[in-house]
Amino acid sequence: MVDVLVMGSGGREHALAWKIAQSSLVKHLYIAPGNPGTSLCGTNVPIDAMDFEGIANFIVENSINLLVVGPEAPLAAGITDFLQSDPRLPHLKIMGPNKLGALLESSKDFAKKFMIRHHIPTARYKAFRSDDWEEALQFLKSIDPPYVLKADGLAAGKGVVICSTITDATAELEKMLLEKKFGEASQKVLIEEFLDGIELSVFAITDGKHYCMLPEAKDYKRIGEGNTGPNTGGMGAVSPVPFATGDFMQKVEERIVGPTIRGLNEENIPYLGFIFFGLMNVKGEPYVIEYNVRLGDPEAEVVLPRLNSDLVELMMAAVDHRLSDFHLDVEPKNAVVVMLVSGGYPGKYKSHLLIEGLEDISDALVFHAGTMIEKGKYYTASGRVLAITAMGNSLEEAFRNTYRQVNKIFFLDMYFRKDLGKDLLNL
Ligand code: AMP
Ligand code: GLY
Repeated sequence: MVDVLVMGSGGREHALAWKIAQSSLVKHLYIAPGNPGTSLCGTNVPIDAMDFEGIANFIVENSINLLVVGPEAPLAAGITDFLQSDPRLPHLKIMGPNKLGALLESSKDFAKKFMIRHHIPTARYKAFRSDDWEEALQFLKSIDPPYVLKADGLAAGKGVVICSTITDATAELEKMLLEKKFGEASQKVLIEEFLDGIELSVFAITDGKHYCMLPEAKDYKRIGEGNTGPNTGGMGAVSPVPFATGDFMQKVEERIVGPTIRGLNEENIPYLGFIFFGLMNVKGEPYVIEYNVRLGDPEAEVVLPRLNSDLVELMMAAVDHRLSDFHLDVEPKNAVVVMLVSGGYPGKYKSHLLIEGLEDISDALVFHAGTMIEKGKYYTASGRVLAITAMGNSLEEAFRNTYRQVNKIFFLDMYFRKDLGKDLLNL
């Protein structure tokens, strides 16, 4: 039996807590700091995910065996190294890499160099600092539009700018590199070739040597229908992805997942946890856009509901190096998650609005992303508020089932996209 602590407070962490709570291996489940949704699955503890000292003390006092780190920020800041060096915690198992492994997400230049060393397909690129301004301009001129500019460091998902003309690209490069638009994150900027294709998110769990693939998903990042308008933290997701056929996924494993895990092993980068491959399918050939060292949000809200297997058993198989023999039972049904957001998001929006209709939801999962509870009533507390997941025998049926439930929920200025997955139906 294990005592588990999940770190984080969004929809992904609610999905993790929901799935972990179903495990017969779990004695106690805690979530730090969690949200009103996770409190239905376990015990919320008011410790911020960046309060490493507080987390360490809690783990000691409550004999936690397994820590599941939801978001990237504590991993990039070295929570795993911090806890592993605590003499009080020799037996703690942590799902999430140390600072070195987390560089796969926290430095795009590190990730690109890693991919090149291991012959993993990715877009051609070069990285520049402000001293290299003239060289950067030369490189821009040498590639075809559109131009992809990326801040090297973590920028809350906003560090990538795509420009259609060289004039725009030069102006943007000046902002990023010379005016430090993304602060330290854009001290170094990557200029990358544009990959013309369709994206998907692929996940594996690994012990740094062996891995087990999880169901793939596709997320919808833009606020507007038809993938228009500004980027958000994610407006919804679907799983499975129809174009991720057996053939395509075989290429993904052979060219990307296998070489990545082998690369980690060869370079002695210890890695226990989830790894997320942000991929572009270019005419049937997979390329890596980015690595993330965690599950995706909102992808977790469709990936985890499709696991019939016990998630804690799976994580313990990773801990005990038994992943190669683990048979993952995946639900063949389609899952769709729709994110309900505050009107105005990702710009300005109102908060503390009463959420009605939650008690009428049936045949769907409600994951809290940004809510608060007062006297038994739920209120909005963030831009992304609720993630509603439903299943169906086909993508179309899953959409219909999800939207039927979504329409029962109301809060002032509530917004959600009504076109999720439609782009996949006529491919
Ligand atoms: P990232 O933060 O690296 O995931 O990039 C954010 C988004 O920018 C991705 O989800 C893609 O839609 C887009 N993007 C990043 N790199 C490229 C590329 N080389 N070609 C085309 N689109 C890209
Ligand atoms: N949905 C993309 C991410 O979690 O980064």
